Amino acid sequence: MVKVLSSREGYDLYANEYAGDHRKLDSFDRPDFMQLLPDKADVAVELGIGDGRISGEIARRSENFVGIDISLKMLQNAIRRSPRTQIVQADLAENLPLGDECVDFLVAAFYFVHIKNPDLIIAEAARVLKPGGIFLFNLIPQRREPELKAGKQRFKIRSYYHSPPHVEKILDYHWFNWDVTTVTEGKGWVSKIYRCQKT
Ligand SMILES: C[S@@+](CC[C@H](N)C(=O)[O-])C[C@H]1O[C@@H](n2cnc3c(N)ncnc32)[C@H](O)[C@@H]1O
Repeated sequence: MVKVLSSREGYDLYANEYAGDHRKLDSFDRPDFMQLLPDKADVAVELGIGDGRISGEIARRSENFVGIDISLKMLQNAIRRSPRTQIVQADLAENLPLGDECVDFLVAAFYFVHIKNPDLIIAEAARVLKPGGIFLFNLIPQRREPELKAGKQRFKIRSYYHSPPHVEKILDYHWFNWDVTTVTEGKGWVSKIYRCQKT
């Protein structure tokens, strides 16, 4: 039986392999996702920044860019890839280590798939964003954790499936104005990208 690890343990183990997955991750939705970035932001924060796969472009468009992640190894790779990033190690499963109404742009790519309670993160997004601020994130239809390999170790990283209608109800509850871009492949969707504005 392959072990299912927590995000911290799993991504610390997998950090140096992750760049090998960039092309596959990019193929889900990168052009659509990047097109939804704001042109400029004073304060931008990326939740679950990972190794900074998409951070260079966000950092270039922001005066202040902060990347937060639970995995120190992923953060070390993020800072190498995008040196202007201010990094913070924190567990973001339940709350965000940020003040009220201080963020212009909050972004979370391939992050909700590791979060058990999206309602807590969306409530926190509503708290930390400035009025008019944007929260950009994606959902993927992953129902089973893929098996990963680092050296001789094989493992999975705990993940959760969130149905789009459920997440949309939470966005409505917090009065976000939101739009969704659905990226399809064959008969099904591979990514739903939510661009949510705090009212
Ligand atoms: C699939 S990776 C995505 C990385 C990056 N956003 C990207 O698009 O390539 C998920 C990231 O979320 C981080 N993560 C998962 N659960 C977390 C938590 N509870 N708090 C903070 N970061 C978490 C993981 O360590 C990992 O770096």
